[in-house]
Amino acid sequence: MDKSSFDTQPVINGPMHTSLQHDSAHKHVTGSAEYIDDIPEPAGLLHGGLGLSDRAHAQIVSIDLDAVKTAPGVVAVITAADIPGFNDVASTGQRDEPLLATDLVQFHGQPIFAVIAETRDQARRAARLAKIEYRDLPHWTDIDSARDNGAPLVVEPMVLKRGDPETEIGKPPLRIQGSMVIGGQEHFYLESHIALVIPGEDDDLVVWSSTQHPSEVQHMVAHVMGCPQHAVEVKTRRMGGGFGGKETQGNQFAALAAVAAKKLNRAVKFRPDRDEDMAMTGKRHDFRVDYDVAFDEEGRIHAVDTLYAARCGFSADLSGPVTDRALFHADSSYFYPHVHLASQPLKTHTVSNTAFRGFGGPQGMLGAERIIEEIAYAVGRDPLDIRKLNFYGEPGSGRTLTPYHQEVEDNILMRLVEELEANSDYRARRQAIIDFNANSPVIRRGIALTPVKFGISFTMTAYNQAGALVHIYQDGSIHLNHGGTEMGQGLYTKVAQVVADAFQVDIDRVKITATTTGKVPNTSATAASSGTDLNGMAAYDAARQIKERLVDFASRQWKVDKAQVEFLPNRVRVGDDIVPFDTLVRAAYYDRVQLSAAGFYKTPDIHWDRKAGKGRPFYYFAYGAAVSEVAIDTLTGEYMVERADILHDVGRSLNPALDIGQIEGAFVQGMGWLTTEELWWDDKGRLRTHAPSTYKIPLASDRPKIFNVKLADWSENREPTIGRSKAVGEPPFMLAISVLEAISMAVASVADYAVCPRLDSPATPERVLMAVERLKTLGE
Ligand code: MTE
Ligand code: MOS
Repeated sequence: MDKSSFDTQPVINGPMHTSLQHDSAHKHVTGSAEYIDDIPEPAGLLHGGLGLSDRAHAQIVSIDLDAVKTAPGVVAVITAADIPGFNDVASTGQRDEPLLATDLVQFHGQPIFAVIAETRDQARRAARLAKIEYRDLPHWTDIDSARDNGAPLVVEPMVLKRGDPETEIGKPPLRIQGSMVIGGQEHFYLESHIALVIPGEDDDLVVWSSTQHPSEVQHMVAHVMGCPQHAVEVKTRRMGGGFGGKETQGNQFAALAAVAAKKLNRAVKFRPDRDEDMAMTGKRHDFRVDYDVAFDEEGRIHAVDTLYAARCGFSADLSGPVTDRALFHADSSYFYPHVHLASQPLKTHTVSNTAFRGFGGPQGMLGAERIIEEIAYAVGRDPLDIRKLNFYGEPGSGRTLTPYHQEVEDNILMRLVEELEANSDYRARRQAIIDFNANSPVIRRGIALTPVKFGISFTMTAYNQAGALVHIYQDGSIHLNHGGTEMGQGLYTKVAQVVADAFQVDIDRVKITATTTGKVPNTSATAASSGTDLNGMAAYDAARQIKERLVDFASRQWKVDKAQVEFLPNRVRVGDDIVPFDTLVRAAYYDRVQLSAAGFYKTPDIHWDRKAGKGRPFYYFAYGAAVSEVAIDTLTGEYMVERADILHDVGRSLNPALDIGQIEGAFVQGMGWLTTEELWWDDKGRLRTHAPSTYKIPLASDRPKIFNVKLADWSENREPTIGRSKAVGEPPFMLAISVLEAISMAVASVADYAVCPRLDSPATPERVLMAVERLKTLGE
């Protein structure tokens, strides 16, 4: 599409750039939104249960399923031998992820067989009756023991380099080496994984899957079934949350249901229990970040050398792109004159880790923000001053080149941060906190302002494409379909706004329809925050084509110039006539005008050469900043977030209400990651934090007591994105880093801010308490 075509569209009080309600908001709160488990069940529906490994790494010596097969209600037991195609659901094509284990298990919770029964309860009970004999093999589940055991890497590591870090790192007066441990995170979507498969004639399968990536589920089901992709149709109306956890992890449930449905010629549903979902699906990668930084007395960074090691689990899954994205964000908002960054994606005997909001970016940035903190404590300055000193510069400053050799051309960091600093009264509050701490023996406070700069685009360039399908029916109602999926973020609403705006009709004239591989093929995952950028543009392209045909028709019919056809709200002006939209549509139909179009979009101007470590992987950057204030109890380690102020950049917002919702949700989810959410595997490799009883996500009461969220309404995307907007799904997640650093400041107060507390994450109350105790001893 012509770069400037979008901007030439007049917006006359259109539905875009307004706070329309999420199309399903009222259905979410009244319980009438249909999730897959709510779909009326087909006659003869069977239910799947799973037999999971209870060893972290072992040879399977024998499997005795007799008791399972004869248990009440059991119709069939599915093992790898029942798979007609490939026993493989690896999203990478690396064939390192069997659907069902055969002779080797590589994590506690790995599926070995499936039970198909008349009820879900019967299937679950029967699955417990298997007798499996194992021969244990050595296992390691965390980064340190993986390193000790010389664990292999699940993918080729990435290296980014610029300048001469080897020699330059020894030159400046100051140098710090340290290490930071960053925990993983469970997605905890409210709707756990689910798939419903209905077999048809020939090879046909209709698959309802709670997935961010219907096309991949389609391809994976075809691969496992040994059938052509055209035989499989995957549908997804909505997910009850995905957060990256449904980018690849839904494949196994859909594939298992497909195998069973075809074998038995009955519909089959798989819905794992929360415990099973948590044990058998991947999570956010935990990292160990080993950093080495050289800087001057002022705090200006000269050279950085950092190694990002990640717990990847037993297979590659998305660990390659996740660890890559960590390196792409290892600069955070800062210019590193000389830099060397490397990833170390380690194989562990745990479930294969996967996408999670930010996709490695948060871990990358957190390492960088720790470096800033280290420098601030070393030179005795406010970390905010160190941040500003090291920000990327304006074009022409000679301080704009990232470690991956892309220029930062759209930098709004300084304006954004200074606006937030002023509006949140940061300086005065920080001083007040320092004064308060000096006189408060038990309760200590902390405050921190941290920035976000997040690169938008899939780093795999080919994924940056999208399709859409728009029909107008004879009554003027509009049917909209596209490749993006809805997981609560409001994508469907935003894309509907784009189409309504293109035709200048009310939003309720546009019917939002479930994503399906049968209408728009070969789609990308709804991920990397790019759902609106990609699908919004594709839908706009489809609408534009129909609109051109309507204009063409009207000018012929009314014998006026095309320029005299103008779309007004729900009406069209044709010469001197004003025609209702549906009248024009009906007349066009009788003139045999095609009222349906497929739209397409691919992001321009991006490229990436991973081997060389050079390119322009990101179309643009989204920016933001947050100030968080906390209070900790130095006797128990407990804390509260007293206040958070956020100023975030979404370009020209398509829907401010939805964008603010994304920012609030992302911030709180980020807080959970950095504070209370702790994953813990025991020495047998069993996940012991497998339910809300043991795994603590934020509650409504954990929300900052004062929470001010503002959009940087002066910002516009300098690239011609849809409505000049910017992606919002992931970037605000990283605003929560301010909470961790505020806690860190409160801890530092017990040693008079003389040492960097080196607080690892999650900063659970016990970790905060231990840090306080450690610092107290240092002070003695
Ligand atoms: N918001 C809600 N409510 N639920 C979700 O599952 N996923 C996040 C984010 N916001 C998510 C969400 C993630 S990980 C991504 S990548 C984006 O939404 C994906 O949607 P988008 O590209 O349309 O922003
Ligand atoms: Mo989001 S982690 O890119 O699904």
